[in-house]
Amino acid sequence: MRQLILLLALSNFAGLCAAASAETGAALYARHCASCHGANLEGQPDWRSPKADGTYPAPPHDAEGHTWHHDDAMLQDYMTRGGQAVLDDMGVSFRSAMPAFGEVLSPVKITSILDFIKSTWPDRIRQARDERLRPAP
Ligand code: HEC
Repeated sequence: MRQLILLLALSNFAGLCAAASAETGAALYARHCASCHGANLEGQPDWRSPKADGTYPAPPHDAEGHTWHHDDAMLQDYMTRGGQAVLDDMGVSFRSAMPAFGEVLSPVKITSILDFIKSTWPDRIRQARDERLRPAP
């Protein structure tokens, strides 16, 4: 009986930890990302049109955006090193206004923000993403 109680307590604890890490991702998103990407991941208005300085507004991270087109490694890199460094490495000529967060947020925190963003995607987007990112046979 005692073991059973211990087991139940432990599994409850694991559940709480999982909930806590999802919450942390949401809270971190609210603090570091929402000012540009929107409290509801809706992005900035007219995000497809360049601004006068040649940079683009922050795109949405919800199903309307294109965040889900990219794999986790690329997104993590984008958040860590910022848009400009990643695009320069890829040889893409584009002026990015996406800041780097590697100095401010640990890799674990960046992953939890990414997990939060992914947790908001509907099933159809997750499936489309899986198909898109599946390596060719
Ligand atoms: C100062 C405004 C600003 C803040 C704060 C900001 N971003 Fe961005 N972000 C941008 C802009 C502008 C772009 C579009 C330019 C580009 O793609 O490089 C962008 C692009 C991105 C992209 C690539 C485009 C996409 O949808 O895949 C990702 C991923 C991203 N941001 C994630 C984040 C996350 C996560 C945070 C919080 C840790 C954050 N951003 C905070 C401005 C911001």
